Amino acid sequence: MLTNDQLAQWDRENFFHPSTHLAQHARGETPSRVIRTASGCHIEDRDGIRFLDAFAGLYCVNAGYGRQEIAEAIAEQARELAYYHAYVGHGTEASITLAKMILDRAPAHMSKVYFGLGGSDANETNLKLVWYYNNIRGLPQKKRIISRWRGYHGSGLMTGSLTGLEGFHKKFDLPLSQVIHTEAPYYFRRPNLAQSEAEFVAHCAGALEELIEREGADTIAAFIGEPVLGTGGIVPPPPGYWEAIQTVLKKHDILLIADEVVTGFGRLGSMFGSAHYGMEPDLITIAKGLTSAYAPLSGSIVSDRMWKVLEQGTDENGPIGHGWTYSAHPIGAAAGVANLALIDRLGLVQNAGEVGAYLKTSLTAALGDHPHVGEVRGEGMLCAVELVEDRETRRFFDAARKVGPQVVAAMLSRDRVIARAMPQGDIIGFAPPFCLTKGEADQIVSATVAALKSVLG
Ligand SMILES: Cc1ncc(COP(=O)(O)O)c(C=O)c1O
Repeated sequence: MLTNDQLAQWDRENFFHPSTHLAQHARGETPSRVIRTASGCHIEDRDGIRFLDAFAGLYCVNAGYGRQEIAEAIAEQARELAYYHAYVGHGTEASITLAKMILDRAPAHMSKVYFGLGGSDANETNLKLVWYYNNIRGLPQKKRIISRWRGYHGSGLMTGSLTGLEGFHKKFDLPLSQVIHTEAPYYFRRPNLAQSEAEFVAHCAGALEELIEREGADTIAAFIGEPVLGTGGIVPPPPGYWEAIQTVLKKHDILLIADEVVTGFGRLGSMFGSAHYGMEPDLITIAKGLTSAYAPLSGSIVSDRMWKVLEQGTDENGPIGHGWTYSAHPIGAAAGVANLALIDRLGLVQNAGEVGAYLKTSLTAALGDHPHVGEVRGEGMLCAVELVEDRETRRFFDAARKVGPQVVAAMLSRDRVIARAMPQGDIIGFAPPFCLTKGEADQIVSATVAALKSVLG
């Protein structure tokens, strides 16, 4: 067996890691952590150290680690048929069954599922479908996409443009001009502290309408948003937000894309975030929780209204010129079928709602009065603790102090609990697997309290 030192050296010499400080990593200034195995909510590294993974990987291992049912389904599919493509009407039992299972769970007005590999490519598909749709409707000018600052939708050229986080644009010449951004529904960070939630919602809807009128509704095709902002800070919208936004979009004939890569399949305690918040999207993006990350698979769920136009488009223009070699990969599809069945069988969506609420309540009880905690927020199995230098005036810490990353590092080294320092702001993020127990939630809370004490006194 290779030694850990040998692996660390090969890692530094050969492996280009995503979202990593490349120079520090190559110089060996950041730790290489080699994960060996995992079970339930815990992962274990090659030194045999166990960690409670309170972020489910990248909020994706929803069913929990080490699920034999999913592993078996993958193995069986690989033995029987590891691959066949899905072009020109081909399919497998797994991919056809999974499409049906998804539509059985999705909002009633959705019609078909296109399968990709990850969230970024699914959003790329959605953008192409939006453009195709407006071309078929005879609206070739109506093409630009509105996204929100702090939204996260991937890191490709167009999807990285949709993403409204500085770190994903800087030095990459993004965002591209087809994408414009509007305000995030981030009540805690509202510029005008005097505003009530209802006033802030009206302000967000008003800002969107102003943007549309300034740019011209005839140039804007779609609006994309996560039901709950994820990577931008784990921010549930204030009450009435989606209703107000949809009123503006409908008035200007602008499509709605619900990016449910994080929220789809139960993370909010409901099967879909769209249903949770009364959204009526034209397209829904799914990935992560579809297979609980046991295999790469994503999807674009298309509404009835759009599907009719896509059919019309192929009658007029021939087969749709879009597809990947690995669209509807049988191994991903087999993982998806087994995963969704398991989530139902174990009642994990309900557990996500119940234990998620317990985690938020417990974090609030333990930290609600802490002088450096500005807000504890969350929905279902998604929670965040936002840190501030001064509570009364809501003054934030200087980003250079890296208070959030320090707290997360302290949680890891003291109590072996993995939380995520969200990339913009001092925000400690939690998105555990849905099988989290109340006892494990208590461990997350005590690790957070202890880390805050060690970093901030
Ligand atoms: C809401 C959302 N959309 C899209 C993506 C991109 O997915 P992927 O990293 O699989 O390309 C992510 C990833 O975190 C996400 O959170």
